[in-house]
Amino acid sequence: MNKTTALNGFAKDIHQGLTSTPKTLPSKYFYDSDGDKLFQSIMSMPEYYLTDCEFEIFNHQASAILDAIAPHKRPFNLIELGAGDGSKTRVLLDHFQKAGVDFTYCPVDISPDILNELEEKLREELPNIQVELLAGDYFELLNNKIGKFEGRNVFLFLGSTIGNYSYKKSIEFLQKLRAGMRGEDQLLMGADLKKDPSIILSAYNDAHGITKEFNFNLLRRINRELDADFNEANWMHWPTYNPETGEARSYLVSRVKQTVHMKAIDEVYHFKAWEEVHTEISRKFGLDDLQQLANETGFEVVDHFFDCKHYFVDTLWKPTNHS
Ligand SMILES: C[S@@+](CC[C@H](N)C(=O)[O-])C[C@H]1O[C@@H](n2cnc3c(N)ncnc32)[C@H](O)[C@@H]1O
Repeated sequence: MNKTTALNGFAKDIHQGLTSTPKTLPSKYFYDSDGDKLFQSIMSMPEYYLTDCEFEIFNHQASAILDAIAPHKRPFNLIELGAGDGSKTRVLLDHFQKAGVDFTYCPVDISPDILNELEEKLREELPNIQVELLAGDYFELLNNKIGKFEGRNVFLFLGSTIGNYSYKKSIEFLQKLRAGMRGEDQLLMGADLKKDPSIILSAYNDAHGITKEFNFNLLRRINRELDADFNEANWMHWPTYNPETGEARSYLVSRVKQTVHMKAIDEVYHFKAWEEVHTEISRKFGLDDLQQLANETGFEVVDHFFDCKHYFVDTLWKPTNHS
């Protein structure tokens, strides 16, 4: 029997990534409890403009968003895919509650730690809203649990997480989501827009090295959970932005020829000097790209909500062929 067949998902995915050409590490594994904290630090860095933009949109346009997603205050389930700490969403939740609309908030996240933190914040700040937490991979939960919810579903997919998928994967993700949506459901999705490339690159290459730490944390997680011996001194963080493709990509680059042993699965991996391991993609969009994505996945664009600099958009979609 192949020794990876009996492994858990983490070990299997890491093994698969490091035996692919070119080598990759799946970005969903950034988010262990240390990774969650590092991502929260990233969100509060001055260079990471995405968070401020989406906060601004929600602070200034919550009323317009509510009118668009719940005309005549129709009740709905607000299902947030990859909710994280829900810091921006809480602005919307607060507004929706004050407006007296009947809704249940269902945050979904792969990281149980961040969901616990979110639950605590909701208990402190918004104790009266109805909440149903869903821990797990949203791809799996979309298939079973979420598809069975009663009532109208409004999906949130914020923070430009859609940009963390390649074009092909984002099409697959949206098609899958669309397949589980009923006629009157909607999707409000954050998307980071194309802009001055130097502003984009700085967001993934901050002066304090937090994005570097976020990438290195994945090596630490592999060392801890798979008893591996990645030596951080042998690696460098290398972020790039290509305005032609709209892709910001992060790499871990091996400074030397080296071999890494993962004792938990008894595997070794060889890296050449200056070989890259791709860790994350953050795609940037034009409005035409978003329109094309909607067309290809069975959605119609209902409205766009921009920040004042037009750096970022929360775009509201509905399934096509439904009024
Ligand atoms: C880039 S963060 C964005 C968090 C939040 N939406 C925001 O805008 O601040 C992505 C979040 O999605 C979660 N996540 C990533 N892949 C996931 C998956 N396949 N299933 C469920 N959650 C996932 C991570 O744990 C993380 O909290």
